[in-house]
Amino acid sequence: MATILLTGASRGIGAAAHAALTAAGHRVIGHSSRGGGGLIGADLAEPGAAAALWQAALTASGGQIDVLVNNAGVFEAVDIADDAEAFAATWARSLAINLTSAAELCRLAVLHFRTNGGGRIVNVASRAGHRGDSPQHWHYAAAKAGLIAMTKTIARGHAGDGVLAFAVAPGFTMTGMAEEYLASRGGDKLLADIPLGRVAAAEEVAETIRWLASDAPASLTGATLDINGASYVR
Ligand SMILES: NC(=O)c1ccc[n+]([C@@H]2O[C@H](COP(=O)([O-])OP(=O)(O)OC[C@H]3O[C@@H](n4cnc5c(N)ncnc54)[C@H](OP(=O)(O)O)[C@@H]3O)[C@@H](O)[C@H]2O)c1
Repeated sequence: MATILLTGASRGIGAAAHAALTAAGHRVIGHSSRGGGGLIGADLAEPGAAAALWQAALTASGGQIDVLVNNAGVFEAVDIADDAEAFAATWARSLAINLTSAAELCRLAVLHFRTNGGGRIVNVASRAGHRGDSPQHWHYAAAKAGLIAMTKTIARGHAGDGVLAFAVAPGFTMTGMAEEYLASRGGDKLLADIPLGRVAAAEEVAETIRWLASDAPASLTGATLDINGASYVR
């Protein structure tokens, strides 16, 4: 049984991961932007929020965290025709939540794992990190590609410290985020691009996170697992 800090646990993939990890007997310290319902609140767009979250989670855990799952994320659109301030602000917010806060949590986790018998990191990236995304989401694809590259770097640099790092790259997944996106991109027409014929269920991504957080063999460290119905095969 592991003690797991899971960000973005209130909805979608994070809520499904919380359920899967808890059902497997793990102790999950969950987080959301607003908190409540047993989750620690931290707005990861704010400077210092990741460090405060880590400290709150360490206190809640009694001083030992075994696994960090960076799942919190936002998917907000900005068009190149929008004004420069809006473009820069959306980039800054997307990178802060989707990449920088995850990096800050990874840093604190690696420092903790190095002196506490090792640990695992699971970063929830996206198919967009490999394939790119819509014209309104340059920032999102860039952040997720950064998350994948960072995960590989942590795996290579800290395997000797007992730190394992994995990424998950979901394609469309049925959550609030995916429903909005599917509707905005033409719904069923978009499904024609997915050989499996449907988007992933949040529970499928959650099961992948659960496996990486606990059962995946150590030699898998550094890997990114695609979960996209063969819509993008590398
Ligand atoms: N759904 C997809 O199709 C899909 C595909 C590829 C990758 N992903 C990735 O999978 C992860 C989960 O996606 P999802 O679809 O399950 O998302 P979701 O349903 O929109 O939930 C997002 C989660 O992130 C938290 N969050 C949002 N903004 C935050 C902020 N500023 N500070 C702290 N936490 C914040 C939310 O907390 P609150 O409830 O408090 O707002 C919520 O728990 C994300 O990293 C996403 O990029 C999703």
